[in-house]
Amino acid sequence: MHGLPLDHVALAVASLEDAVPLYERLSGARGSVPEILPAQGVRVAFVGDVELLEPLGEDTPVGRFLERRGPGLHHLAYRTPDLRAALARLVAAGFQTVDAEPRRGARGHLVAFLHPRATGGALVELVQISGS
Ligand code: CO
Repeated sequence: MHGLPLDHVALAVASLEDAVPLYERLSGARGSVPEILPAQGVRVAFVGDVELLEPLGEDTPVGRFLERRGPGLHHLAYRTPDLRAALARLVAAGFQTVDAEPRRGARGHLVAFLHPRATGGALVELVQISGS
């Protein structure tokens, strides 16, 4: 049986204006046009499969993350064809969720996060690609 494929890894950064060109130079991929997600307090751009997260303010989850831990790896994301089913399976298996219900994330996809307590210390996102 094949497992869930990795969709992206995400970094918390202080500035997309600095981080997007850096990852463009590093990977050779072109950065996406930044997208603002007010509900999550972030501005987001993708360079290939790397998601760059810039906080909209200090008092946001990514703002607090930067304050506590500095820039760097923020979460990894698995792709699932059925987010509700995946959440139900993982909750039944003892994983703790940050989001009990799927919500709208970057690029219009449905997303939900698992708590790092139950995942070996990494924040884990599940993504259901919209239109799939
Ligand atoms: Co993500």
